Amino acid sequence: MTITITDTIDDLDWVVLNDLLTRGFGYERSQEVVQRTFTGSYACCFAWQDGTLVGAARAISDGVACSAIYDVAVDPVLQGQGIGRALMQAILARLPKRSVMLVSTMGNEDFYRKLGFRKMRTAYILMEDFRGWEAGGYLET
Ligand SMILES: CC(C)(COP(=O)(O)OP(=O)(O)OC[C@H]1O[C@@H](n2cnc3c(N)ncnc32)[C@H](O)[C@@H]1OP(=O)(O)O)[C@@H](O)C(=O)NCCC(=O)NCCS
Repeated sequence: MTITITDTIDDLDWVVLNDLLTRGFGYERSQEVVQRTFTGSYACCFAWQDGTLVGAARAISDGVACSAIYDVAVDPVLQGQGIGRALMQAILARLPKRSVMLVSTMGNEDFYRKLGFRKMRTAYILMEDFRGWEAGGYLET
């Protein structure tokens, strides 16, 4: 399997990206949100197999010290074959290294642990609406 990693949103088909994210995360977001979040990111990486989009990741950053990674997704059919690691290595290469934060989805914590991430004891998050994450078991009481 030959996987190519790119880092530009030029000529990206937003419908195809949205479909990949929907299948990866199991819920759908609006086309506008997908396009605006990726366009507004500091760095984006995409994985391709024979011209087909099979993975994505994006990060926001101040470009000097602090970054956060979001929307790491691999086509469910192709998971477990190193594409996620390749995407993470590519996006980390574009970020300053002092601190890179992320929130793992349930069950994928060891994927990030294997890349050197460590779990924080005092990480906090403020959300407009906590209900989804509360229902998913992501929040302490
Ligand atoms: C999480 C995800 C991106 C991993 O991508 P992937 O292509 O399947 O991962 P890789 O094949 O590159 O795995 C790299 C290493 O992590 C391990 N790994 C991957 N997922 C894992 C998991 N859920 N639990 C434990 N280890 C895992 C692999 O076994 C591999 O280990 P190795 O280096 O010892 O061989 C992918 O499963 C995915 O898209 N999930 C759905 C969307 C999602 O939840 N994304 C995370 C957002 S925070």
